[in-house]
Amino acid sequence: MIGGSRSPSPQTYARGLENLVAGDTLISDIDGRTGRLLYRGYPIADLVERSTFEAVSYLILQGEIPTAAQLEDWENELRRWRRPPRAAFDALERVPRRAHPLAQYRTMLTVAACHTPEPENTTLDAQWRRPARILSWTAALAAAAIRHLDGLGPVEPSDDLGFAANFLYQTLGVIPPEDEIRAFEASLIVQAEHGLHAAAFAALVVISTGADLGSAVLAGMGALSGARHGGASQLAYEMMAGLRDADQARTWARAALGRGHRFPGFGHRVYRCPDPRVKALEGHAEAVLKNHGMEHRWQVYTALRDEVETVLGPKGIYANVDSITGLLYRPMGLPVSAFPIPFCLAIQTGWMAHCLEYLPDGPMIEPGAVYVGSTDNS
Ligand code: COA
Repeated sequence: MIGGSRSPSPQTYARGLENLVAGDTLISDIDGRTGRLLYRGYPIADLVERSTFEAVSYLILQGEIPTAAQLEDWENELRRWRRPPRAAFDALERVPRRAHPLAQYRTMLTVAACHTPEPENTTLDAQWRRPARILSWTAALAAAAIRHLDGLGPVEPSDDLGFAANFLYQTLGVIPPEDEIRAFEASLIVQAEHGLHAAAFAALVVISTGADLGSAVLAGMGALSGARHGGASQLAYEMMAGLRDADQARTWARAALGRGHRFPGFGHRVYRCPDPRVKALEGHAEAVLKNHGMEHRWQVYTALRDEVETVLGPKGIYANVDSITGLLYRPMGLPVSAFPIPFCLAIQTGWMAHCLEYLPDGPMIEPGAVYVGSTDNS
């Protein structure tokens, strides 16, 4: 017998909250039927073409393209926070190297958060002081977590470099060629915001309780680590890396389709059409792979994409952004298990923007549940 005090109508209840909206926003506009993704009204392809990650993060957070003076202030603010507290790096020494880099990075951020100048201050002004610190600290911590996988120590930041180039420098220990920095920056730009997806919603729930922005970002990181979410880029790349050439990719994909395989890096809760982020990155991925003599990996990707989309496209399953980012990151020298990290680094911009947009008067998020157990066990 169904009991419980709340009994939502079918319109307000769906497992997985599918097709439910949890708020209104001015930050991004996503149309999953036409494949449109706009940040504050600007198409992502235009931003990739003309903008930097710094300018896009300003746009997402503040709502407008920065003037030259605003951009300079924001860049300086980001640069100011490039050196997280020593204690966060010390904490890494106690984390086993085999731990996933996302878990290492999350642990470091927790320690760093305890060393913030005003940890208990959750006034709106104090929350607005946090995004630059979180973006820059997490970039340095993420780079250190990736190096820790190989037993390497952290690299001092270079204040002459922009956000994307400095992250790559602190991760790899060398400055990559300009076209690779641009390709990497493009991946940060297209992954910087994506509405109230699972991780953004997790962050929003935390901020709605009166917690600080760092705690909200930590919640988002936990949600993002799952294989259905940010973990898919690693699995997608591993799937492609196991295939020798386009012929083998086609044969394997046909057999896998026949047994109902779930392909990592394909399908999306919102997009039932080609993912616009894939289109914005494919040219970069092809060029980077070619530069590194890895054309075969591009051929495997296109063969696999075409086979899967031919069969599953009519059902709304297309390659998603996680199928393509690894094709950029691996030739640049990032280890496979680190692929979710740049995604996390970029998308926390959107999480913070949603939190700050919600904060002034948003109520605590606390949905009910329909009790479906017995009411007469006495
Ligand atoms: N490969 C093959 N089939 C897939 C698929 C994939 N990657 N994703 C979804 N499908 C199929 C399901 O088998 C199901 O088929 P059915 O109706 O015949 O049973 C149908 O599409 C709907 O799947 P469902 O899991 O209900 O869709 P969803 O909207 O809840 O799923 C994802 C969204 C992202 C969880 C899902 O597409 C997925 O698991 N993708 C792989 C992981 C991934 O790349 N995640 C990153 C997203 S950015």
